[in-house]
Amino acid sequence: MKVLEIHGSTSDSTILIGESLRNLQKYLPAGKVVIITDTNVRHYYSKDFPSREVIEIGTGEKIKDLDTVKDIYGKLLDLEIERSSFIVGIGGGIVCDIAGFVASTYLRGVRFGFVSSTLLSQVDASIGGKNGVNYRGYKNMVGVFSQPEFVICDIKLLETLPEREILCGFAEVVKHAVIGDADLFSYLEEHYEEALGLNTDVIEKLVYDSIVIKSSIVNKDEKEKGERRKLNFGHTFGHAIEKTIGIPHGEAVSAGMVVATSLSEKRGHLPVKDAERIKGLLKKLNLTTRPQVDPETVVDALRRDKKRKGDNIGFVLLQGIGSAVVEEIPIRELETLIKELF
Ligand SMILES: NC(=O)c1ccc[n+]([C@@H]2O[C@H](COP(=O)([O-])OP(=O)(O)OC[C@H]3O[C@@H](n4cnc5c(N)ncnc54)[C@H](O)[C@@H]3O)[C@@H](O)[C@H]2O)c1
Ligand SMILES: [Zn+2]
Repeated sequence: MKVLEIHGSTSDSTILIGESLRNLQKYLPAGKVVIITDTNVRHYYSKDFPSREVIEIGTGEKIKDLDTVKDIYGKLLDLEIERSSFIVGIGGGIVCDIAGFVASTYLRGVRFGFVSSTLLSQVDASIGGKNGVNYRGYKNMVGVFSQPEFVICDIKLLETLPEREILCGFAEVVKHAVIGDADLFSYLEEHYEEALGLNTDVIEKLVYDSIVIKSSIVNKDEKEKGERRKLNFGHTFGHAIEKTIGIPHGEAVSAGMVVATSLSEKRGHLPVKDAERIKGLLKKLNLTTRPQVDPETVVDALRRDKKRKGDNIGFVLLQGIGSAVVEEIPIRELETLIKELF
């Protein structure tokens, strides 16, 4: 097992990579504890849950909203959860986002932790203290910054995860490598087959290295004033496409990284051979690089991006593999590029 620390402004978070769900009990305080999980995770793993009250939610991005949050508040009230109680989310990014938001707002904040059960949530969603839900179809519009006391990344849980979900996690691993770690990128190029085969040692290294990158960025800029914006690499276009054709987040991010890579190359920041390596790695990992989209609809969604400032959008570009920079890009330029690429 490997351990990493995140230092948040209000509290710290301990990330345990390679720890097991079966040991969760060790990390729970005395007193009342409630588990929040989803239908699938409960189905596969309730046998390994500590014997505590369970609140089960459904699955899918649509349930990550304030209605689900309200239902959970009702159940917490029925269970007589107090400020001194503890909430633990066991699941993927959706469970963690909801559980973290509920815990941070109920009674103005109850202590909480996560057991992260998808690759995407282990390398990204459960790390960094952003917790929020969607509102009127806009992603993560309502939320808080607050750090879970612990995050257990149990690699064994990934064995039951559908392949498409695994690939989504790889998209975020590639993102971390291209924005901050050229060695991790080369390692992925060499070990992609073992990664796809879920080799435990390879996955543990990918999860650990990804979290090192994300946590070092979060430690510098928890509230996303500058450095943390780099974690949005591939996400501006990714979110636009996710909204337009409804493909999974990781696949949309993969396509978004292709756009951002091409733009970095066009603007003369990124050498052609690096751009080719990035596209090549995404393909090796069976990720989408050219989704079937209507360019007009995507441009329309970009215009409604949260990060838009007048005619520009803050866009993350690459200067090389392992080095990212944020630049204001005119929407017009993005429009031309998207029409060229798709
Ligand atoms: N807070 C953040 O910083 C942050 C960062 C990235 C993404 N996110 C959010 O994370 C969410 C996506 O997370 P996700 O990809 O983990 O999706 P998810 O939570 O929907 O999980 C994917 C699917 O896998 C199932 N599942 C989970 N663990 C399983 C397991 N071990 N075995 C079998 N099935 C399992 C789930 O029930 C679900 O059907 C999005 O809402 C996104 O906005 C948040
Ligand atoms: Zn993402």
